[in-house]
Amino acid sequence: MRKRIVAGNWKMNTDVAAGIKLASDLMQFLRDQPAPENVGVAIAPPFTHLTEINKVIDPAKICLAAQNCASEANGAYTGEVSVGMLKATGVMAVIIGHSERRAYFKEDHATLAKKVDLAIKNEMRPIFCCGEVLEERNAGIQNQVVEKQLKESLFHLDNEDFSRVIIAYEPVWAIGTGVVASPDQAQEIHKYIRSLVAARYGAGIAGELTILYGGSCKSSNAAEIFSKPDVDGGLIGGAALDAAEFHRIVLSF
Ligand code: 13P
Repeated sequence: MRKRIVAGNWKMNTDVAAGIKLASDLMQFLRDQPAPENVGVAIAPPFTHLTEINKVIDPAKICLAAQNCASEANGAYTGEVSVGMLKATGVMAVIIGHSERRAYFKEDHATLAKKVDLAIKNEMRPIFCCGEVLEERNAGIQNQVVEKQLKESLFHLDNEDFSRVIIAYEPVWAIGTGVVASPDQAQEIHKYIRSLVAARYGAGIAGELTILYGGSCKSSNAAEIFSKPDVDGGLIGGAALDAAEFHRIVLSF
């Protein structure tokens, strides 16, 4: 049975002290009421928090993730943070291709493919984000948009490397808007994503692939979305900033 995951993307929120408190509170909730069997929990705090947060979490209960990484291994890239540096702080997974990175920082398919390669080379799991904007959804071309994102940045991987990837489908129109995709909308495109992976890598690898839904997911809607057969959990933004609320989402399976 494939792994289910609830991952919190804190984005550019909290200072170090507030981040340590949030992670510690979440740890306590998970000690009191552990995640269901086969459900992994991950958090992606800002870079500045990683070393300190790694000290207060139990890696058996919470996987430490990063929100981004450089597309180069090291060198004269002022302001960038490499996968190797992240690894040294205890990071096990990295979000790559979030729509905010694509939109505001102009990250293109080729750049994202380089980040994916570096993550895998450093034995880190990429949480690769894909998803369409509202105009694309209204034009009914969401499948083509997602297909291009996967083909251009992931499908160069060989079978072994691809089996390390986690995909997060995040429709841009649902991120931070309070407008959540309906469970049927999520299921439809998750199933399509899995079919693309099956065509490229075979049914075995597609069946093992964890595909997360992201976009205004909270405890009041998570259970219904997670109940869909091709939805294997969530990538949570705003609701991950409240430990009790995030913990309720973890318990939504
Ligand atoms: P929200 O849950 O705040 O809509 O954000 C989703 C997201 O972008 C997670 O990466």
